Amino acid sequence: MPAAVSIHGQWSTRLAFVLAATGSAVGLGNVWRFPYIVGDNGGGAFVLVYLLCILMIGLPIMMAEILLGRLGRQSPINTMLTVSRAEGLSRGWGLMGWIGVLAGFLILSFYSVIAGWALAYVFKAGSGGFTGLDAEGSSEMFGAMLANPEALLAWHTIFMVMTAMVVARGVRSGLERAVTILMPALVVLLVILVGYAMAHGDFLGGLAFLLRPDFSALSANAVLLAMGQAFFTLSLGMGAIMVYGSYLSSEASIARASAAVVASDTLVALLAGLAIFPILLAAGLSPGQGPGLIFVTLPLAFAEMPLGLFFGTLFFVLLVFAAWTSAISLIEPAVAFLVENLGLSRVFATTLVAMLAWLLGIAALLSLNVWSGFTLFDKGVLDLLDYVTANILLPLGGFLIAIFVGWRMSQSSVMNELRLRNMRAFRVWFFLVRYLAPTAIVVVFLRAVGVI
Ligand code: PFF
Repeated sequence: MPAAVSIHGQWSTRLAFVLAATGSAVGLGNVWRFPYIVGDNGGGAFVLVYLLCILMIGLPIMMAEILLGRLGRQSPINTMLTVSRAEGLSRGWGLMGWIGVLAGFLILSFYSVIAGWALAYVFKAGSGGFTGLDAEGSSEMFGAMLANPEALLAWHTIFMVMTAMVVARGVRSGLERAVTILMPALVVLLVILVGYAMAHGDFLGGLAFLLRPDFSALSANAVLLAMGQAFFTLSLGMGAIMVYGSYLSSEASIARASAAVVASDTLVALLAGLAIFPILLAAGLSPGQGPGLIFVTLPLAFAEMPLGLFFGTLFFVLLVFAAWTSAISLIEPAVAFLVENLGLSRVFATTLVAMLAWLLGIAALLSLNVWSGFTLFDKGVLDLLDYVTANILLPLGGFLIAIFVGWRMSQSSVMNELRLRNMRAFRVWFFLVRYLAPTAIVVVFLRAVGVI
């Protein structure tokens, strides 16, 4: 029988879990990835599909993932093995945990590179680098950073060390506290930026871009990207939320915690979009800037804003913190597994995983300059890592979770762990996990590769 408490510890309160899971969910995915993918894919229709994926696939799968974590109370690999055994199912389900560990490792490698950009921008903003900047100057500044592998390597290294330091210290110390203060601060700052965009940007234009759906611009691949973004932004399909669920006390309501996490995450993404597109349109930039979008656009706002130096610096500091609390959850599944199965110390396990991800990250950052000629499927290493993890590995993990919880586990175990008092709510959730989510994932995949 699984233990009542994980050997790695437990969140001190229910709120701590919600904050930590929100910390994992809210990150570069909301502020960096969401706006640029929306920009690349034409706006409103994409946003609508994304929101549908969040609600119909993301939320139910998040509940399923937390439920599994809390039942197994170990790293995702061992959780899957333990729950499968208790349910009389094949040990093969442990493979799902392995896919998650692999995805987390791959994501961390490029995530740390992008977080490094944000770190670099903290110092650019703080030293007055945005003052007097125009659209062209801003693009040049970003381009110059990408062209400098030594600088990218330095920032990537600093970020990876920061991440490893927190994970090495364990679940409670540091992490919980950081999230409590920093997440609300990020929201406040985004609201200030939206205020600026309202006053000085093309706010109505930005709003229309984000909300007015033009389905003719929506390709099958864009639907896959919207679904991938839903998984990425909610940290689903790779065991991060599962491992956080394994530190959750048995009394907490999984449904309520999940709803809070999903709502906060979505709010932050939409606020980021509302801040960025009006500024971008007013500056005459194109929305399809690719991954550099926020790094080219936001400095323009800070260049003009009263106290821009202060707000600009603070914004990138908070973005780094948001990335930090997400990066932590990317290594936690692998670290928990190494501690459980190889008996490694937490510090050693963390160092090992962080070092491997750091090495792969170097390949990712070199793909922006020295190795820019080397592409696979038309993508450099960084783009490829981003594409494959978000659009293939995470939805695949989510699909397996939905099949496991919806079809393989006994319904009574599921009901017992979820403890939804409202039977109708349970039935809706179960329908989404059992039928809708897996079907939608398969259909979106098959359409994107052109089979249907
Ligand atoms: N959700 C994070 C973000 O939006 O930045 C990224 C992420 C963290 C993805 C943890 C996956 C994960 F397991």
